[in-house]
Amino acid sequence: MSYENLLLEMHGKVALITLNRPQALNALSPALTAELSALLDALETDDGVAAVVLTGSEKAFAAGADIKAMKDWGYMDVYKSDFITATWERLASFRKPSIAAVAGYALGGGCELAMMCDFIIAADSARFGQPEITIGTIPGAGGTQRLTRFIGKSKAMDMVLTGRLMDAQEAERCGLVSRLVPADRLIEEALAAATKIAQMSAPIAMMAKESVNRAFETPLAEGIRFERRLFHATFATEDRREGMAAFVEKRKPDFKDR
Ligand code: HXC
Repeated sequence: MSYENLLLEMHGKVALITLNRPQALNALSPALTAELSALLDALETDDGVAAVVLTGSEKAFAAGADIKAMKDWGYMDVYKSDFITATWERLASFRKPSIAAVAGYALGGGCELAMMCDFIIAADSARFGQPEITIGTIPGAGGTQRLTRFIGKSKAMDMVLTGRLMDAQEAERCGLVSRLVPADRLIEEALAAATKIAQMSAPIAMMAKESVNRAFETPLAEGIRFERRLFHATFATEDRREGMAAFVEKRKPDFKDR
């Protein structure tokens, strides 16, 4: 399959997806998000893919939803097409590990897309923001929800109500970003992290991801019970047996994804 707005490169079992609308700072047009959704469908069922890195350009991860595309839409246009659920949320429901590698602007829908990944590695040039209020709307792809859960009410309110941008250092301090790296090492670091994950058992990594994500949706006791069920389920896998045997035998595990 070929894509107009995305680039895809395989690095071993890691799929590197690059948002590629440089003329619009990777503004997330309906065509781009539809392509991303279709690509994720394909990667999810491909056993040759163990993890995904999503990135943009040096100047912009993505400067938001495409304002030029949206500007003349009315309520019925967005309601009837359920803008944005069908395509954008595909990344949030992607079952394999995903890393956002962010340089430059990650604004509005760009910040929301990055937050749908499992974690964010940021270049020191990264700037995050939910500036929708400055163009007369509010975040619509999780910006008021995920951001608040990730960085707390006060900072989320500050960003959503003033539309101010947060630099990479602040984003790392408040936990939006897991690692901060020099811009020229961003892709290398993100691929190294994804490659490390790809060396684990794929189904076990999926269970770990599913369990962490559950923390955002359940009370603690329920989340702990969910974790316990999945933890017990790992004992039904060959890879759990292999992992522990390899430790005891002082060798590298040979995971078979079973
Ligand atoms: C459409 C965009 C765009 C966007 C930039 N461009 N952001 N086009 N949608 N979100 C286009 C510009 O129109 C311009 O094209 C080109 O990209 C370069 O942008 P400039 O503004 O000239 O660059 P610069 O001066 O460096 O400023 C960079 C910037 C600014 C600070 C990132 O572009 C900006 O503020 N962009 C909008 C950010 C924003 O409000 N995002 C939230 C969108 S709403 P031309 O052809 O004109 O030169 C949203 C809602 C999501 O995301 C809800 C869920 C769907």
